[in-house]
Amino acid sequence: MKRAAILISGGGSNMVRLIESMVGDHPARAVLVGSNDPNAGGLAKAAAMGVGTFAVDHRPFGRDRAGFEAELIRHLDAAQPDLLVLAGFMRILTPDFVRHFEGRMLNIHPSLLPKYPGLHTHARAIEAGDLEAGCTVHEVTADLDAGPILGQARVPVLAGDTPDDLAARVLVQEHRLYPAVLRRFAAGDRTRLDL
Ligand code: GRF
Repeated sequence: MKRAAILISGGGSNMVRLIESMVGDHPARAVLVGSNDPNAGGLAKAAAMGVGTFAVDHRPFGRDRAGFEAELIRHLDAAQPDLLVLAGFMRILTPDFVRHFEGRMLNIHPSLLPKYPGLHTHARAIEAGDLEAGCTVHEVTADLDAGPILGQARVPVLAGDTPDDLAARVLVQEHRLYPAVLRRFAAGDRTRLDL
């Protein structure tokens, strides 16, 4: 049974569905949920689902990314995770941190990578007049939002969409895609899934 740790920064809607999916004959189980924000709403949801939690507030560390990440790693390694799943985690991680988890670290990004790495993905897709948008699950490597793609899901961009409209439509697909990709990845299957 693979041990999965999940990192969040906010409400953790993806985290909730990932925990819900790791049951029965699923090859992984959620063993820990962590956040860079002690007030992240997802922490209470994880605890209510019986999953251990921790928080390392990144603010006291200021520009000391290494110090913040060392504390993250201390909490994470104590749970001996086989998989590290970033789900709405909004801190950029250094190459040293990524190397520590390389080959077993996933992220979901709310665009059809390689389009729109970084922030404000939905506004950029609307601004560009794209007819479709979506989300991508990828392995995390040292290059931001650029690791091997493991899955994508697409949605139409509709006339009059605001970024919030599009974000809500994409989020529904994130909740389908991430559990499906995690299940494959946990089973050692890296073949790309397009929903
Ligand atoms: C989602 O849009 C996801 O794509 C991005 O963070 C947002 C919130 O995710 N990574 P969640 O509800 O905290 O899972």
